[in-house]
Amino acid sequence: MAIKHFLQLSDFTLDEFEYVIERAHLIKRKFKQYEPYHPLMDRTLVMVFEKNSTRTRLSFEAGMHQLGGAAIYLNTRDSQLGRGEPVEDAGQVMSRMCDIIMVRTFGQDIIERFAAYSRVPVINGLTNEHHPCQILADIFTFIEHRGAIAGKTVAWIGDANNMLYSWLQAAQIFCFHVNVSTPKGYDINPALVAADNTHYTLFANPADACNGAHLVNTDVWTSMGYEEENAARVKAFDGWIVDSAKMARARPDALFMHCLPAHRGEEVAADVIDGPQSVVWDEAENRLHVQKALLEYLVLGRL
Ligand code: CP
Ligand code: NVA
Repeated sequence: MAIKHFLQLSDFTLDEFEYVIERAHLIKRKFKQYEPYHPLMDRTLVMVFEKNSTRTRLSFEAGMHQLGGAAIYLNTRDSQLGRGEPVEDAGQVMSRMCDIIMVRTFGQDIIERFAAYSRVPVINGLTNEHHPCQILADIFTFIEHRGAIAGKTVAWIGDANNMLYSWLQAAQIFCFHVNVSTPKGYDINPALVAADNTHYTLFANPADACNGAHLVNTDVWTSMGYEEENAARVKAFDGWIVDSAKMARARPDALFMHCLPAHRGEEVAADVIDGPQSVVWDEAENRLHVQKALLEYLVLGRL
C-alpha cells in the first residue's frame, strides 16, 4: 500500500480533511475531559528539527505522549544531519526504527527527498514553502468560532511566505477566498501556486485587502532562514502592520490570527493581538488537537 505523507495541504482531499477535523473535535473533547485515549500505544514519532520551534515541538511531543506513544527529538546540531549525512539515508534509517516522522527544514525539496526514502508517513512541520499543520489548526479554530470556512474571506497581510502558500492551497480545497497584500518586491512566487487556483485576489493596499474579511491573518516579516534580509524587510513592510484601523475595515465579527511567535508593534499592533478579536491562544492550542488527529489518521487510517 502506498504510504500517505502530509508534506503540503494538497496531499489530502477535502474528504480526508473533514475526517481529520471531525477526529480533532473528538480528541479535543477527550483531552478536556481528562479521558485517556491511547490509540498509538507503543508507536514512536521521530521529530527532526533543522530550525527553531516552540509550538510545533511541544504539540507533537505532548500529542504523541497523550496518544499513548513516544516522541524523539532530533536536531541538526546533534544528529548526523548536521555533519552532512544525506537526507535520503536519514529517511531510510529513521523510518526503519519508528512509525511516523515529522520534519521541519528549509527547502520543500529536502522534505520531499526525505519522504521518498521513508517507509513510514512523513509530516511537514514547516518548510520555507509550506506550513500545513498550522493552517489545519487555523481552519479548525475558525470552524470552532464561526462555523464552516467555505465561502468566507481571509485577509493575508504581509510576507508571501510558507503560511500564505498553505492558505492559498487551503482556499482551493475548502473553497474560500484569500485577499492578499504583500509589499512590492515580496510578492507571491507564481511557481508556488497552482495555475488553476482562482481563490485569491491581490491588493496593493493592505487596508483594502481587509475590506469585509471574516478573518485577518498575518505573520512575521522575516521568516526563519531569511534573517540576513531583516533590515531591508523592516523598511519594505512599513505600512503592513495589522492595527485597529485595518481591523475596522474587516467585518465587525472578524477574527484575528497569527501563527506565532509575534512581534508586537511590527507586523501586528499590541491592541489587536491582545484584543477581543484575537484568537491566537486557541489557534496555538489547536495545533495539539489537530496534529493528534493527523497522527492517528496517518498511522492507523480511518477508524
Ligand atoms: N507556529 C509555529 O509553528 O510555532 P513554532 O515555530 O514555535 O513551532
Ligand atoms: N513564517 C514563519 C512561521 C514561523 C512559525 C517562519 O517560517 O519562520
